[in-house]
Amino acid sequence: MPKKLAAGNWKMNGLREALGEVKALYAACPTPSCDVLICPPATLIRSMSKVCDGIQIDVGGQDCHENTSGAHTGDISAPMLADTGATYVIVGHSERRATYGETDAQIHAKTAAAWAANLTAIVCIGETLDEREADKTLHIVGGQLAKSVPDAATPTNLVIAYEPVWAIGTGKTPTLAEIEAVHTFIRTRLVERFGPQGHEMRILYGGSMNPKNATDIAAVPNVDGGLVGGASLKASDFITIVQALNA
Ligand code: PGA
Repeated sequence: MPKKLAAGNWKMNGLREALGEVKALYAACPTPSCDVLICPPATLIRSMSKVCDGIQIDVGGQDCHENTSGAHTGDISAPMLADTGATYVIVGHSERRATYGETDAQIHAKTAAAWAANLTAIVCIGETLDEREADKTLHIVGGQLAKSVPDAATPTNLVIAYEPVWAIGTGKTPTLAEIEAVHTFIRTRLVERFGPQGHEMRILYGGSMNPKNATDIAAVPNVDGGLVGGASLKASDFITIVQALNA
């Protein structure tokens, strides 16, 4: 079984004082048996990387441009993220797919760019409520998985995050059986495409994961960790999730 990953996505939250949350997380859980990652806003990556130097917390970006440099005002490239100390980057988050119209083809290109910069890409996939109600969940998730992930995926450079769009920031989650069904489907597709290595690729659940539901979700077959938004902002909440994934 792959080593579990507790990944925090801070989204557009956090000023410098928020670095104290990372220190509190480390103080409470200095040697976790799972991997721990925080993806803060780009403005905090460098200072967080310094705080996390030599400790078991990795730092990642929340997005990268598909090009390495150029006239792209406001964007950040994968080599720039790596240069600030990031080792992971989230790509294809549903908020970016929805707000900026990011396509699977773009996410494919961003993932390849992440790999070229030696970053592990966390590729997000997931259905909307309309798609779930129309019984299209597996069709949507399967299509995003096939089109967003390049052929050179390995268990080291790729993490998949299954995030039902309707569960993000809403306090609603699928049932454990529904989570298991989608994660098992993703696992099957990964093994069909990448062979035995597909068993080692991590599949995170994301969407309203919190200290109360983390233990149950962490125990679902083929759930190899969580991508946590709101509940990763406070160390006191995120510690409980890290501990649930430690078990
Ligand atoms: P949430 O966000 O935990 O606040 O629902 C998860 C995510 O968007 O990655």
